[in-house]
Amino acid sequence: MRPLTLDSLNPAVKKVQYAVRGELAIKAEEYRVRLAEGDKGLPFDKVISSNIGNPQQKGLDQPPITFVRQVAALMEWPALAELAPNVFPQDVRARAKELQEEIGSIERDGYPSDPGHIFLTGGASAGVSLLISMLVTSPKDGVLIPIPQYPLYTATLAQHNGAALPYHLDESSGWSTSAESIEAAIEKAHREGIVSKALVIINPGNPTGALLDEETQVQLIELCEKYSLVLLADEVYQANLHHPDSHPFTSFKKLVAKHQSPIPLVSFHSISKGVSGECGRRGGYFECTNISDEVLAEIYKMVSVGLCPPVSGQIGVDCMVRPPKPGDESYELWKKETDTIHAALASRTKTMAERLNALPGVSCVDSPGALYLYPQIRLSQKAQETARKAGKEPDAFYALALLDETGICVVPGSGFGQKEGEWHYRLTCLCPGVDEYVGKLEKFHRGFVEKYGA
Ligand SMILES: Cc1ncc(COP(=O)(O)O)c(C=O)c1O
Repeated sequence: MRPLTLDSLNPAVKKVQYAVRGELAIKAEEYRVRLAEGDKGLPFDKVISSNIGNPQQKGLDQPPITFVRQVAALMEWPALAELAPNVFPQDVRARAKELQEEIGSIERDGYPSDPGHIFLTGGASAGVSLLISMLVTSPKDGVLIPIPQYPLYTATLAQHNGAALPYHLDESSGWSTSAESIEAAIEKAHREGIVSKALVIINPGNPTGALLDEETQVQLIELCEKYSLVLLADEVYQANLHHPDSHPFTSFKKLVAKHQSPIPLVSFHSISKGVSGECGRRGGYFECTNISDEVLAEIYKMVSVGLCPPVSGQIGVDCMVRPPKPGDESYELWKKETDTIHAALASRTKTMAERLNALPGVSCVDSPGALYLYPQIRLSQKAQETARKAGKEPDAFYALALLDETGICVVPGSGFGQKEGEWHYRLTCLCPGVDEYVGKLEKFHRGFVEKYGA
């Protein structure tokens, strides 16, 4: 019998990279096991998971929203409503009952939505993966992706043998997106014989936390019109806004409808982020706008091949898009829980950005949205050479040293993409005990600079 070897796998799989769960995360896990086994030889007594945007992960402190879990409990076992008559608020009971029945017409962001154009998915990742697999027909088909980007996009494109066409976000203006830089990427691809088929926009951004203004969004829509691009709008962080009054979120769906643009748009949302933070329940949806009936039928077929997403995720999506309203019995608690989550994230983000900016050789854009900061670190020639000798990218070398010394796990910028000669890392703003945690980070950084020079 022939053994299953690496060489017999699809070579595209070997090209896939996903730094969020890469070397740093694996080493952090080893440290966690050593600590649990009572190892006293490490210079820290806990591992801090600043590498991952899973709000409910152990060690991070975003609790689940009560409303979601109560509706889920009644959906799992409807008899509970009778067995525990005083436990569940009236609106929770009504919602669970309603969800057993059929859903009628809906609207989103003030414009009508056709339920037939919305597909429930096991998280946004499943939808992104499906769309990319359907759009890429040859290695000469390209998808424009922001740099830095969430590595789902490069990974999925590598898997499906499509071309990732990078366009750079501008760090000097708060990680802004410009139509010109995308246009330059389209032209470059064209010269290389690659067709740009779709444009990925992550808004609010991961890892940057940047938020688009409406003017830029309209320019991007016009760009899609000019170059016949499908717009893939990844809007999974739309509820993670730190200053919603001065920096609100506007969906592409709303602007495409408002401007009556004909561009094909697919917008993605998820229950993994926002106040819901339910990564493990696997829920999300994508909505298709201006997609022809023939193509919709193919999407419907392919979604059907994957069967339905978990019921837990579907319940989560319903509770996310229809949270309790003022006057509902669950409203007060829901409001308190969500306000607490927003306030904690906003204040941690602000504190962390301020303190990072005060460090020598560090500059950090203060993000208005999402869950992350993406500071730039200046690394000396000596640090870069030592890193290269160790076979590491300089930012990965820095991040490994940070983990070894403090137990703080971050993700090096090389996992998201950055300009040549620049170094970053991404850290999540979900970790509690900011004072202690950032204190450790500051001490490490100063020590690193002392050792390797600025
Ligand atoms: C920008 C972005 N899109 C999509 C996803 C995937 O989310 P889901 O858990 O819904 O698959 C993530 C997760 O971190 C993300 O950051």
